[in-house]
Amino acid sequence: MVSLKLFALISLAATASAQSADGPIRYMPFGDSITEIICWRSKLWQRLQSTEWANVNFVGSGRTENNCRDGTYDRDNEGHSGFLAIDIANRNQLDGNKQVRDIINAFTKLVNTMRTSNPKMKIIVAQIIPMGFGNFNGKIQELNRAIIPWAEGLNKTESPIWVVDQYTGFSGSGDLRDGVHPNNSGDEKMTKVWYPAIVHAFEVVKAERANSTAMTEREFVA
Ligand SMILES: *[C@@H]1O[C@H](CO)[C@@H](O)[C@H](O)[C@H]1NC(C)=O
Ligand SMILES: *[C@@H]1O[C@H](CO)[C@@H](O)[C@H](O)[C@H]1NC(C)=O
Ligand SMILES: *[C@@H]1O[C@H](CO)[C@@H](O)[C@H](O)[C@H]1NC(C)=O
Repeated sequence: MVSLKLFALISLAATASAQSADGPIRYMPFGDSITEIICWRSKLWQRLQSTEWANVNFVGSGRTENNCRDGTYDRDNEGHSGFLAIDIANRNQLDGNKQVRDIINAFTKLVNTMRTSNPKMKIIVAQIIPMGFGNFNGKIQELNRAIIPWAEGLNKTESPIWVVDQYTGFSGSGDLRDGVHPNNSGDEKMTKVWYPAIVHAFEVVKAERANSTAMTEREFVA
């Protein structure tokens, strides 16, 4: 039996904890093989190097990459091939809505775990890219639609969830190297979608930090 994966991409921009509020912002690329064995992390990191965000620290327990011919970028990530995967080869035997519900429920658990570790975690979730074979894209779009109300329901001012659309404009035939993982063209497209979203998250973190510094200074003055 061929086991295929329905990808769930989630990406986090984590604020440093209060104790290290002046340290570099930490960013954790989190997801499955589309986070692990791809080159968009390299492209994203390179793009940040000419900006004020050059010292953002990519974090995660893994360092796998995909022969990106880039010896300089920060490879730390939390990409797990197979993680959050569900077996859709047997999709006809399963209640299709249940699969989407299961993934959404798994997302909720992840967000709760993240917020337990840092209540001010900033979270960016991607509506996932299409696949290049089979007829899975209907199911993928169903999941992508479900992500919006899910994110709205869990949104918090101190821990926003931003949704980005990695599906629209991504070609299952022209942007994937194997029907599943992005090739250079797909990595470029994904980077273009991630970039403004993570920069916005960094800006929010920076504004919060400036604010808390100002508050602290006021308290000292008072
Ligand atoms: C969550 O709130 C932020 C503002 O804090 C907003 O920018 C974002 O679009 C909201 N997310 C969703 C999914 O509505
Ligand atoms: C990406 O892969 C597709 C087919 O898998 C191919 O048609 C396209 O030329 C590739 N593009 C790049 C930039 O690698
Ligand atoms: C700054 O702090 C004030 C007072 O706590 C708060 O109302 C405001 O939303 C904060 N702004 C940011 C960007 O965190």
